[in-house]
Amino acid sequence: MSFGLGRGRALDDAGVGVRAGPGGELPPLPDDLGPEGRAGQVDIRAWFPHPQRPLEIEIGSGKGTFLVQQGALRPETNYLGIEYAREFYLYAADRVRRRVEAAGELTNVRLLHADAFEFLRWRVPDACARVIHLYFADPWPKTRHHKRRMVRDEFLRQCRRVLEPGGELRIVTDHAGYWAWMEEHFARWCVPSGPSPLRGVGSGHDQGSPRGGDVPGGFERLPFDRAESAGQDEVVGTNFERKYRRERRPFYGAILRRR
Ligand SMILES: C[S@@+](CC[C@H](N)C(=O)[O-])C[C@H]1O[C@@H](n2cnc3c(N)ncnc32)[C@H](O)[C@@H]1O
Repeated sequence: MSFGLGRGRALDDAGVGVRAGPGGELPPLPDDLGPEGRAGQVDIRAWFPHPQRPLEIEIGSGKGTFLVQQGALRPETNYLGIEYAREFYLYAADRVRRRVEAAGELTNVRLLHADAFEFLRWRVPDACARVIHLYFADPWPKTRHHKRRMVRDEFLRQCRRVLEPGGELRIVTDHAGYWAWMEEHFARWCVPSGPSPLRGVGSGHDQGSPRGGDVPGGFERLPFDRAESAGQDEVVGTNFERKYRRERRPFYGAILRRR
């Protein structure tokens, strides 16, 4: 329970939230993760009442607005939001829990309190997600902080591993500098533009540059098309989109489809 963002009302993640880390619901990572690093993987589909349904993951789900809107529109799809700021995680989980209890809606939405990159890397099985959503990720504008950006070669490698063939990584940002950085990374991972990942072109900021074992042109790049649940004149309809739209910021987006 927490009272922070609830403005005095207790926030409760019961039945909707999953907590990683010490004291959480995930077993500790084994000391020996095995040569492929797969020994810590968990069956995240089993967290949903209908595990066989398609799974979509939102990274950095904030207050959960996209999950609430999209999850209500697509009840036949399972949505997992991953958020590492505890108050935002709790706020979103509480929001979903109240909808489940009041209206029986959003039983297809779960919130996970974890670092999304670490979770993708160590916990998520291969080819289990249909879509990964990344909207208005923290831009980390200072050069010395660029290594903290979510979009980097190792992240794209993990997304490709976790996505089903034909699955999509959907990205929108408002930040021109981060977008330029993303475009450099996309060029290495997408056909037809950019050199093959096998050529090992590194950004210089990133330890996880493409290397042997990756599939050349692991993604096809497509223009972003708006989310079905977005409001009129919106692209996805998250809290940050609404805030930045009021400030008349431009938006940049792409879809990387796993080949
Ligand atoms: C700028 S906010 C955008 C929130 C939401 N997507 C939106 O558009 O309104 C970025 C969010 O990503 C979360 N975040 C940043 N790095 C993360 C990570 N490694 N794992 C999980 N969440 C992360 C932050 O806590 C924050 O809630």
